[in-house]
Amino acid sequence: MVMGLIDLKNVTYTYPLADEPSIKDFTYSFEQGKFYAILGANESGKTTLCNIIRGFIPDFFQGELTGEVLFNQEPLSHYTLSELAPYMGYVFQNPFNQITGARDNVFEEIAYGLENLGVAKGDIEKQVKDIMEMTNIMSLADKNPFELSGGQQQRVAFASILALSPDIFIIDEPTSQLDPQESERIFDIIHQLKNAGKTIILVEHKIELISEYADEVLVLEEGRLICSGKKHDVLSDISLKERQIDLPETTLLADALRKAGYNIPEKLITKEEMKAALMAHIKGVSQ
Ligand SMILES: Nc1ncnc2c1ncn2[C@@H]1O[C@H](COP(=O)(O)OP(=O)(O)OP(=O)(O)O)[C@@H](O)[C@H]1O
Ligand SMILES: [Mg+2]
Repeated sequence: MVMGLIDLKNVTYTYPLADEPSIKDFTYSFEQGKFYAILGANESGKTTLCNIIRGFIPDFFQGELTGEVLFNQEPLSHYTLSELAPYMGYVFQNPFNQITGARDNVFEEIAYGLENLGVAKGDIEKQVKDIMEMTNIMSLADKNPFELSGGQQQRVAFASILALSPDIFIIDEPTSQLDPQESERIFDIIHQLKNAGKTIILVEHKIELISEYADEVLVLEEGRLICSGKKHDVLSDISLKERQIDLPETTLLADALRKAGYNIPEKLITKEEMKAALMAHIKGVSQ
């Protein structure tokens, strides 16, 4: 049996003064080296779940947490937030909150985290440059992080966590202010991280990119995990549409074609898979 790197067992969490829990009886194992996408409507608990995994809940937010949160089979509460920092990188939903305020240009802002990790000065410059090239933000190097647009801040926030190279990336809506091309770039980098053995926990609405890149998908509704598992199982589940969860266009098309009487294979979620199925169908018809 593969042990989960992060195990949540029957986790329920209520913010201070809140009437009801924001996460309800949540159980899931996040394994090393997999890419998990978290879906759900506004206020369904996605960010709260990220904060539980990172340990900010209950340490920073207080409130009442019940159930078990384990990291490498040990209670997460046995670690301090700074002990977890080298293992868990967290890209906040609001990139403004990520800016340290300790440095006045983007290059130094990204270098700051590496300085804190004790990386040798000579190595820092090259690492920061590599990361900035990878994330396409070289042109922002001399700019003040607070004077950037939201989308630029989002890219800088992502780059500053990337520079730290943690084992686990918790990334909360990193492309919400990015255009399709820059969004694709972020997913491409995440894909490379996964190939390098990193664990990715990503909150994201861009369902076509998730269908292409993620391994497993978790769906939250009002703090409850209503559906989870391999992306082909979850994202082909047409019943999620009635629960206001965005599904890939391929899932919707496959459903419409099946209802029209066409024999479309189960669990198609990407355009490439649909293309292959349609080509096979056309071949069959023309023979
Ligand atoms: N600091 C807080 N104190 C009290 N309640 C909070 C706090 N943060 C979030 N909540 C509540 O917890 C619930 C889940 O919020 P959360 O931010 O986790 O959802 P989300 O799925 O990330 O939403 P969004 O899509 O808007 O980012 C909501 O009802 C929200 O009002
Ligand atoms: Mg959120």
